[in-house]
Amino acid sequence: MLCLRLTPLLVLVLVVSLGAAFPHEGAPRKGCSLFKYKQVIFHEMKAVEKMQKEFRSIRRLDRTCNTRLLDREWTSAHLSVPDRVLLVQAELNFTIAMLQRPARPSFARTRQRPLAFLAQAREDLQGCVAPSHQPSGELRQWLQNLQLAMQTVTQENISCLEDYAIRHLFEVLGDLNCAARQEKC
Ligand SMILES: *[C@@H]1O[C@H](CO)[C@@H](O)[C@H](O)[C@H]1NC(C)=O
Ligand SMILES: *[C@@H]1O[C@H](CO)[C@@H](O)[C@H](O)[C@H]1NC(C)=O
Repeated sequence: MLCLRLTPLLVLVLVVSLGAAFPHEGAPRKGCSLFKYKQVIFHEMKAVEKMQKEFRSIRRLDRTCNTRLLDREWTSAHLSVPDRVLLVQAELNFTIAMLQRPARPSFARTRQRPLAFLAQAREDLQGCVAPSHQPSGELRQWLQNLQLAMQTVTQENISCLEDYAIRHLFEVLGDLNCAARQEKC
């Protein structure tokens, strides 16, 4: 009896370990599911809009900010498809990091939904670009600028980057959509 009960479990263990031993070669890397973002989902946009409104009502930006480094003279559509994915990955990293900063309860509430959406998008974008892909010169420059902005920011002016990230959220959603639409962007 005991033997019979154990059998399904053993089979399961065997199947799982066989699966791990023989990964499906040639299959796309786990995780890449860009197609979901071909349409920007209306209620996610509403949630972002609501969060931005809440942020504007509580923010107090009383210092001079230097975010010129992050301005771009090109758009996502101008980049190759893998570059677009890299761009939006970096934007998602940055935006999520900024949105996760300590916040007032009212803002912490309204940011929940956008944060969950962005985190899901970041996960879905994993494996969409070959690790060996080299970004174009202009994207590389911008990625370096973003890194520099993150490295030089201080406790005093981090609200500058936070403000920038929240104001530019619709652009990030647009870049995500552009990456998903591939040649049709
Ligand atoms: C924050 O301050 C540092 C030091 O003054 C400066 O190098 C950096 O550019 C500032 N960052 C922003 C986003 O204003
Ligand atoms: C985004 O963050 C992940 C994990 O934190 C990292 O592996 C990845 O290289 C980052 N992507 C970009 C484009 O910065």
